[in-house]
Amino acid sequence: MKTYHIVVLKGDGIGPEIIDATLQVLQAVAKRAGTFQLDCHFHSAGAAYYRQTGVNMSSETFAACQAADAILKGPMGLPEVRNPDGTEAGLLGGVLRGGLDLYANVRPVRLFPEVSSALAGKTASDINYVIVRENTEGAYFSRGQGEVTPEGVRDMIVITRAGTERIVRFAFELARQRQGALPNGHTHVTCVDKSNVLRSFVLFRQIFEEIGEAYSDVEKDYLYADAAAQALVLWPERFDVIVCENFLGDILSDLGAATAGGLGFCPGANLGAQHAVFETTHGSAPSLAGTDKANPLAAILAGAMMLERLEEGESAQRMITAIEETLRKKRVQIDSDGCPIAGTKSVTAAVIRQIEES
Ligand code: IPM
Ligand code: MN
Repeated sequence: MKTYHIVVLKGDGIGPEIIDATLQVLQAVAKRAGTFQLDCHFHSAGAAYYRQTGVNMSSETFAACQAADAILKGPMGLPEVRNPDGTEAGLLGGVLRGGLDLYANVRPVRLFPEVSSALAGKTASDINYVIVRENTEGAYFSRGQGEVTPEGVRDMIVITRAGTERIVRFAFELARQRQGALPNGHTHVTCVDKSNVLRSFVLFRQIFEEIGEAYSDVEKDYLYADAAAQALVLWPERFDVIVCENFLGDILSDLGAATAGGLGFCPGANLGAQHAVFETTHGSAPSLAGTDKANPLAAILAGAMMLERLEEGESAQRMITAIEETLRKKRVQIDSDGCPIAGTKSVTAAVIRQIEES
């Protein structure tokens, strides 16, 4: 029996309820497999923790994250809890993504069966792509470092050769593993940037071309980010893998989620060479906290991505299939706000039932 050591950070707002749901599903799938178990270590971090302690995360917790096989993280942040500079406290982007060098933020956008899209006429066979967001530089490199003067504030976009080479290579490798774009199965990577305006993005695109030469089997295409926003709404089926800078990826992944049943369906993996953090694309939704209304599927799908990284691919797939089946059988239904009609706990129970029946 293999044992994986997992650090669990439940987070703020709806974090604890969706992470509890995920842990229950993970236990069910581990039991079904019978070959591995998860040894979970619970730590506090985030905005509520910052309010109590003045730090986002203790050094002991960070050390535990460094030592873990994987980290499962709930959403962090509470609108009223702020750093002295006015930004939100407790977000952990710098601590985990920067601190653990998690350079690839992998955000699958997929419309599941029987889930309605905000885009008229689009069904599950139209929306299935992955946004690969560079996670350690770009515009967010300036996090906490903007140059503040009485006249204004200057934040800076940082695009490095090494940082771009590794994220672009990651995107091409991911494209090779996937089945290709929906209409034609063509494996392709779309480089999304603003190289028509900023020199930093000229370098990003140039490196995309350089690295792309080694991937002659993968088609390449290019979109400026504004045009990409339009295309994600009008022709989502054209996308397979998208690679982009941090800030653009942040925005476009929420846009994509809105077309695929809402943020409640979109997980995110933060992957580095040594460490990995699995979370949702969405935030902590404090107004939904404790109401049993939140959709736990993004967190559960993040749990599946964690098993994939731990090379428990069969169990990861079992979780995804269980979600597809519960939706197909209408054991889980989602309202127009993106919330499960019968509540968070009922979704968890339905997915577990499906795993047990599989
Ligand atoms: C995300 C979030 C974070 C980000 C925030 C909470 C720092 O929006 O993971 O997309 O901007 O990256
Ligand atoms: Mn975001």
